[in-house]
Amino acid sequence: MTAILGISAFYHDSAAALVIDGEIIAAAQEERFTRKKHDPDFPKGAISYCLREAGLGPEDLDFVAFYDKPLTKFERLLETYLAYVPRGFPSFRLAMPLWLKDKLHMRRMIRQGLGGSTRARVVFTDHHESHAASAFFPSPYEQAAILTLDGVGEWSTTTLGVGRGNRIELTDQIQFPHSLGLLYSTFTYYCGFKVNSGEYKLMGLAPYGRPIYRDLILEKLMDLKPDGSFWLNMDYFNYCQGLTMTGRRFHDIFGGPPRSPESLLDQRHMDLAASIQAVTEEVMLRIGRHLHERTGMRHLVLAGGVALNCVANGKLLRDGCFDDLWIQPAAGDAGGALGTALFVWHQLLDRPRTCDLIHDTQRGSFLGPKFENDEIAMFLQTSGATGERFDDESELLEHVAGLLTAGKVVGWFHGRMEFGPRALGARSILGDPRSPLMQATMNLKIKFRESFRPFAPCVLQELAHEWFEMRPEQESPYMLLVAGVREQHRTPIDPEQARIMQDDPDLRNRVNVVRSQVPAITHVDYSARLQTIDAGRNPRFHRLLEKFYLQTGCPILVNTSFNVRGEPIVCTPHDAYRCFLATDMDALVLEDYVIQKGEGAPEVDQVERQQYLAQFQLD
Ligand SMILES: [Fe+2]
Repeated sequence: MTAILGISAFYHDSAAALVIDGEIIAAAQEERFTRKKHDPDFPKGAISYCLREAGLGPEDLDFVAFYDKPLTKFERLLETYLAYVPRGFPSFRLAMPLWLKDKLHMRRMIRQGLGGSTRARVVFTDHHESHAASAFFPSPYEQAAILTLDGVGEWSTTTLGVGRGNRIELTDQIQFPHSLGLLYSTFTYYCGFKVNSGEYKLMGLAPYGRPIYRDLILEKLMDLKPDGSFWLNMDYFNYCQGLTMTGRRFHDIFGGPPRSPESLLDQRHMDLAASIQAVTEEVMLRIGRHLHERTGMRHLVLAGGVALNCVANGKLLRDGCFDDLWIQPAAGDAGGALGTALFVWHQLLDRPRTCDLIHDTQRGSFLGPKFENDEIAMFLQTSGATGERFDDESELLEHVAGLLTAGKVVGWFHGRMEFGPRALGARSILGDPRSPLMQATMNLKIKFRESFRPFAPCVLQELAHEWFEMRPEQESPYMLLVAGVREQHRTPIDPEQARIMQDDPDLRNRVNVVRSQVPAITHVDYSARLQTIDAGRNPRFHRLLEKFYLQTGCPILVNTSFNVRGEPIVCTPHDAYRCFLATDMDALVLEDYVIQKGEGAPEVDQVERQQYLAQFQLD
């Protein structure tokens, strides 16, 4: 037996993954255990979970693989600093103590973090090799073109390559500071959202705008070649030398200083969002076409933070140069932990790879902890809550579907926790997408935020193509593609609604205009960020959707992550129950137990609720 532990840490979203004899046994992000969103620290909690899952101790590990090369990264920081002397000094001074204290002594830190009892060989793989490995090795393809795109690793920000059998080969790269990820993050920052987490908000804002700055971006900010390679004009960016992303020249051409977070969004911000989204899509389409021409491959796999841009992924797929795409669900740096472990097994140890041509080998990304009914029973007992236990699954699902049909919001906790940023039906909050009030209700009463974005739908795989513009066999099991709601499910809007859609300054009013039979998940441009649910990956969740479909004729549910604003997705029954109590969720399903408000749940203490919510920073 060969046990390989993969680790990503010290930048953003630490994680651990365990691969035994090539099989993915477990993977999880550290934030789920420490309850600190995007926790970058050494992933102690995630590592001990992975080992526990396999019944191993640190002494049983053969390899510990780290997802990037700290020395090369350090060299990049030094070189960047030297190139911008003396302007880069403030950021250099901030970064250095951490590097000198921790990051340059990674081997020692890893051994210490594992309790000193491991004899495992410690291996460092290249950041983009880790991303590429996470995209290709679990994919359902014998061979595929590979594209990785992110902010930056050591030097690379974009790599192109090919995977065949058990090998990957990266052939081309674009290097720092020229980075599509950092370009997108620059606009995220400029529009007043948080870098490294607010990118999806910017993407959600884009449908409200017109891409009127697209040409300006292409003319001033970057030199984009026909093959998709690009240079950024660094005169406009501040991220090499400063503590901010943008400087005066950037503000001059886009009409003012950055928006302050939480302030009003105006048309300019929407247009900026639409413009950078259009540019991102253009870059990805050009690279995709070039990569197809170069490699002749029918399939493409993607990873890196930019691969979470599901709107661009949808465009790339519909462009048609590739028959299909597979995107690593943990596309950001957390997924590097899985990639580096798989890289060691296949590439370094040259072990064969068997791919699952139907479902991939990512196991629905349900790679985290699971809790049995008796653990839940014990938890409920100690916390003084009473849940109704359903021994018959069909009755349970019938009951839950009934609650959803009645407009209730249900916390759904089942099976192993998801690996990656999206809730995929193991730690999800569910609602009825047909309700015109559901978007506002779920945001205000559960997430404690106001949002201009619709929720994401999950839909029965078998019926997805009837509701959304996709091919019958097309899957989106990891919520990484966007497709339009089909014409026949759209509803006409009257002139007054059209006016609201056009110019109401409050975007919530725009998103709440009913435009389809499933308004809670339909964006203003009729797009939806959908997840298809198949019986293979999550059979119980599939059966729940079938019940809901039988009761309503609608094969779709709202699926949002089980957390409040700024909180990591819940991991344990305790996390879930606390979140349930702190919000106006109507019911909580913990495996076979259903707990409903007012029925056995203790009276909610308002002070406790406020304290709980105050822990989490705005995301
Ligand atoms: Fe990355």
